[in-house]
Amino acid sequence: MNMRAVIRQLPGSKIREVANAGLGRSDVLAFWFGESDEVTPEFVRAAAAESLARGETFYAHNLGLPELREAIARYTSGLHRAVPAARVAVTSSGVNALMIAMQSLVGAEDEVVVVVPVWPNLPAQPAILGARVTRFSLEVREGGWGLDLQALLGTVTERTRVLLVNSPNNPTGWTLTREEQQAILAHCRRTGTWIVADEVYERLWFGRGTDEAAGLAAPSFMDIAEPEDRLVVAHSFSKSFLMTGWRLGWLVAPAELIDAVGKLIEFNTSCAPVFVQHGGLAALAQAESFVPGLVARMRVCRDSLLPRLAALPGVSVATPPGGMYAFFRVAGQEDSLVFAKRLVVEAGLGLAPGAAFGDESEGWLRWCFASRDPSRLVLGVQRLAGALRL
Ligand SMILES: Cc1ncc(COP(=O)(O)O)c(C=O)c1O
Repeated sequence: MNMRAVIRQLPGSKIREVANAGLGRSDVLAFWFGESDEVTPEFVRAAAAESLARGETFYAHNLGLPELREAIARYTSGLHRAVPAARVAVTSSGVNALMIAMQSLVGAEDEVVVVVPVWPNLPAQPAILGARVTRFSLEVREGGWGLDLQALLGTVTERTRVLLVNSPNNPTGWTLTREEQQAILAHCRRTGTWIVADEVYERLWFGRGTDEAAGLAAPSFMDIAEPEDRLVVAHSFSKSFLMTGWRLGWLVAPAELIDAVGKLIEFNTSCAPVFVQHGGLAALAQAESFVPGLVARMRVCRDSLLPRLAALPGVSVATPPGGMYAFFRVAGQEDSLVFAKRLVVEAGLGLAPGAAFGDESEGWLRWCFASRDPSRLVLGVQRLAGALRL
């Protein structure tokens, strides 16, 4: 069939491949997808149901309900520097916010530098648009994955249209420091490069212990950038409010870009559903009474999993300061897809293979620790130990 080569060559999801190996089995402990097994809070579901009961089933403004844009602006301003609603666009998910950002900035043959390993959708989006994607790899260090800042700055030049960076990072948990963000912003101002920052995990922030206390959110470009900086920040309701299935997100961009973003939304989804946006409004109204509790539960999950995982002979893992994933490797296991499939079939343990996030993380495995029941994690470690004959 005569479709574009770049589309034909898009990789299929390796996580799905592993999940398919466990199809039809009800005994698999699944930690492969990036979502909690906890349902969306009742107050959010009720707000959406009330909107539907009111008959709010029509098209809405491209950029989102004015009151939701205002609420997002207030919420963001509470965490970072003040942002007006005029710089906010509501999108149909975080991944949609990222695609819209790419569509507004990147064309055929433009160069996009992406910090990897990363959730595969990030490099795929500019590739779909015909851009040339340069992968810049984090490096494996003693305490987990780290950034060679000077090497990154050397890779981003006047020819680089967009630097795409996800922090806190899926899958590694690596998170930019404030100093790194300052250096990157200053460099991109010099080269004229746009920064597209995927900060969907910013609230799932536990802190680095010694150097930075756990705060309300991970270090963000929104703390240091000026309104006119070439910065687009992509966000989502999925992770901080347990709303993965709702498909609701937003982006913050310079005001001049927002008109164009509105047009692009028209051509993509036209608008986010109104009743879904009412769910988002309810979520933000109670954000500061809900999110800290969620983060505390996630911290219990992280601290249930990590020490047990680290105690297994042959396992290398660092405690992530943010996000909801343990990223680890097992000595002697070089092919992560084969290993992940074996764990499903032999041990009933569902993990994501590192290869799903790029060749840079082949041999690694990702374990999503977001669960309402931390004892599932403990059981999972026992299954892993059993599979490794420990
Ligand atoms: C790094 C990263 N960015 C963005 C998203 C998008 O989330 P959503 O499309 O559910 O809002 C995800 C989801 O897993 C993610 O891991």
